[in-house]
Amino acid sequence: MKFIKEELSYLERHDLHRRLNTMYDSQASRTVVNGKDCLLFSSNNYLGLTEHPRLKTAAMEAIDRWGTGAGGSRLTTGNLKLHEELENTIARFKNAPAAIVFNTGYMANVGAITAVAGKEDIIFSDELNHASIIDGCRLSRAKAEIFPHKDTTALEKLLQQAHGYRRRLIVTDGVFSMDGDLAPLPRLVELAEKYNALLMVDDAHATGVLGRRGAGTAEHFGLEGKVHIQMGTLSKAVGSAGGYIAGSRELIDYLRNKARSFIFSTALPPSVIATANAAFQIIRENRQILQNLHLNAQYLRSGLKQKGFSILAEESPIIPVFIGDADKTMQMAEKLFSLGVFAPGIRPPTVPPGTSRVRVTVMATHTREDLDRCLAVFARAGQELGIV
Ligand SMILES: Cc1ncc(COP(=O)(O)O)c(C=O)c1O
Repeated sequence: MKFIKEELSYLERHDLHRRLNTMYDSQASRTVVNGKDCLLFSSNNYLGLTEHPRLKTAAMEAIDRWGTGAGGSRLTTGNLKLHEELENTIARFKNAPAAIVFNTGYMANVGAITAVAGKEDIIFSDELNHASIIDGCRLSRAKAEIFPHKDTTALEKLLQQAHGYRRRLIVTDGVFSMDGDLAPLPRLVELAEKYNALLMVDDAHATGVLGRRGAGTAEHFGLEGKVHIQMGTLSKAVGSAGGYIAGSRELIDYLRNKARSFIFSTALPPSVIATANAAFQIIRENRQILQNLHLNAQYLRSGLKQKGFSILAEESPIIPVFIGDADKTMQMAEKLFSLGVFAPGIRPPTVPPGTSRVRVTVMATHTREDLDRCLAVFARAGQELGIV
């Protein structure tokens, strides 16, 4: 298979070949990566819930009671009472009439977008939207208009020019995964109303993170009930796996009937569902965890700035530390790792040339000592590489 060899060697030559890091321990703030003890500053386990004893117990009890697998898709034998309980929990959490669980966040985006948009429709998508949104747009065969990042003036022009389509869908990340900034939701809601478009928000990085209760971007902006299709994942702050869409009862019933990634895949296993359900209970009962997350993010951000680093966005626990040059960025990430901090370098093609960064994420479970250690390591690595 010559083409595979050729493609791999192209990736190698252009420094684009990806390798996996191996975790030898859990997603705790202190873990072992590639055999080396380090502080974890790159997990999406924002609330640290993957380590929570109640989630672990919920998973084990679910296995005892329900077994290890769901045995079928939701529309055949895989629709356990547990799935329905979780969907009710999510709907209450999102303050929405109903919700539907998919096997991953990726599948939620692809399933929902392809169900609501087809050849006769047009989708307006922020240029920095997640790959699963991009893939959903492609698979839908709708016309896709990509607007410059958060540029609602450009979006409005595109909306004005779009004639002759059956449906219009505006889709955006709530928190952008590589930049940590937020969608301009108030203006997007206005535009969706003015131009009669559906609005879909991906709250993968906002679920359990943004808003007073952690309910996401709409709650953060006081716009609950204004976003037609609220997507999120159970794999990040919720500490489990799976994705969801919350919205009107009709939308959810429609997705059950039309979303192919929901229909044609075996349901998530009981342990995963029970874990997510337990996580939502904890998020509801213990607001302190969410507060700790934001206090930690604030502390680390201001410490990094004091040390001379520039931070690309200050609105979420995703802290992109701007380096600029791609090689320098990768050197910085390596240096950080050699000093015991694991935070990846992000470079083109994931981000535009000249905007490479080290992507730091904070968890509620980082201690002050972890944060201070991270700051000291950043300062030392930055000085040695002439970045600060
Ligand atoms: C913005 C965004 N949307 C969707 C996803 C997909 O979610 P999942 O990992 O649950 O498939 C991710 C993360 O991978 C993400 O960052």
